[in-house]
Amino acid sequence: MAVDVPEPAVEVERLVVVVDGVRVLDGLELHVPAGRIHAVCGPGGAGKTTLLRVLSTLLVPTSGTARVLGADVVTQAAEVRSRVGSTGRSAGFDPQVSGGANLLQLARLLGYSRPAALQRTHQLLAGFGLSDAAGRSMATYTPAMRRRLDLAASIVVRPDLVLLDEPTQDLDPHCRAEVSAVLRALVRAGTTVLLATRDPDEACRLADRVSVLVAGRVVVEGTPAAR
Ligand SMILES: Nc1ncnc2c1ncn2[C@@H]1O[C@H](COP(=O)(O)OP(=O)(O)OP(=O)(O)O)[C@@H](O)[C@H]1O
Ligand SMILES: [Mg+2]
Repeated sequence: MAVDVPEPAVEVERLVVVVDGVRVLDGLELHVPAGRIHAVCGPGGAGKTTLLRVLSTLLVPTSGTARVLGADVVTQAAEVRSRVGSTGRSAGFDPQVSGGANLLQLARLLGYSRPAALQRTHQLLAGFGLSDAAGRSMATYTPAMRRRLDLAASIVVRPDLVLLDEPTQDLDPHCRAEVSAVLRALVRAGTTVLLATRDPDEACRLADRVSVLVAGRVVVEGTPAAR
């Protein structure tokens, strides 16, 4: 009988990143199956952001390998970039311009024709509950609205994998629940989510599986008890 084994979304082997003589990632191993929400959880300085930077091709590792959706982050970086969405895209948005206009411009930059960019922008704004605020300058947005806009910006190109660094940091419980619902919707649409968080409770609430990262290594991995 044929067994359907999905392609792993992330395969990290013996990953080492040395910064200023410090082994920030120290032989890290991580395997994330496709179609799940996976959390990397650990204390400040554990190396979570560094790992996400390697996986999004922003940082070249010192040694070891990292493959994203089957593509090597060093030798096939362009392919990785075309299939991965990351948080932080909205950092370049103009706060004086409306959220809708910023998102539309990003879609255009990412290669959408104007009609397709308009359609995608409307779809994302609706999906993230921002339709009413679309025409308002981003300077008027609450932190939660900015976070939702940043999540929308991270998936403009419908990525197969989305990398989220502290997606619920500084949000109140209501907004955290909204983010959780958005992540579930992403997974239903076929995207794999890898998120980093300092908060173990949050990791267990959001994710199907949690890897605990300490001093640049995964020390334990498990499934939250409630699942
Ligand atoms: N560019 C850099 N130069 C020097 N040290 C760095 C650099 N980037 C990361 N580090 C160090 O690497 C370690 C891991 O940093 P990283 O930001 O990946 O941790 P983190 O788990 O994301 O922490 P946090 O929970 O605070 O976000 C820290 O000790 C940090 O000081
Ligand atoms: Mg970090």
